[in-house]
Amino acid sequence: MHKMEELISEKDIAEKVSNMAALISRDFKEQDLTVVSVLKGSFIFTADLVRSINIPLEVAFLAASSYGASTQSSGELKIRYDIDIPVENKTVLLVEDIVDTGLTISRLKDYLYEKGAKCVKICTIFDKPDRRKIQVDVDYCGFVIPNEFVVGYGLDYNNKYRNLKNLCKITI
Ligand code: IMP
Ligand code: MG
Repeated sequence: MHKMEELISEKDIAEKVSNMAALISRDFKEQDLTVVSVLKGSFIFTADLVRSINIPLEVAFLAASSYGASTQSSGELKIRYDIDIPVENKTVLLVEDIVDTGLTISRLKDYLYEKGAKCVKICTIFDKPDRRKIQVDVDYCGFVIPNEFVVGYGLDYNNKYRNLKNLCKITI
């Protein structure tokens, strides 16, 4: 068992998610919105977020390899599972659990533009700007967090702890 310390409570996360959903509902009101959720980390955030968005939307999933058994980002991005609906001329909201170096999300954004998306916006529940290696425009950000390895609310360490309801700092 690793040492855990709560950084953000379940209640604070829920409040933030509903505020983000309200903004998104307002900003994309007249558009054909496609939510692309980046697996596996953002499955919980996506489920909460889309249920609070009150405009019509479609949901697709995509998995890209980033972290393995270590806490260091590997340089290369591989699409391990691709979206199953077309995004040509669609407005896409790319939903991430956390933006860290920024490499994953900026490559995924390019990838969706290559697939013909009209517009790709980035939405993340957590952001660790201290570790950025590439400039990324995060359009919707829940919480800016310090440079710590965190788990819970979908985020893992070695595939564990995704089911925690709050966000915790883990000491490895
Ligand atoms: P980036 O490409 O460095 O921005 O990495 C983004 C991905 O790394 C996220 O989608 C997460 O899956 C993972 N990641 C980054 N920081 C953490 C963390 O503190 N805890 C768990 N996963 C993390
Ligand atoms: Mg992960």
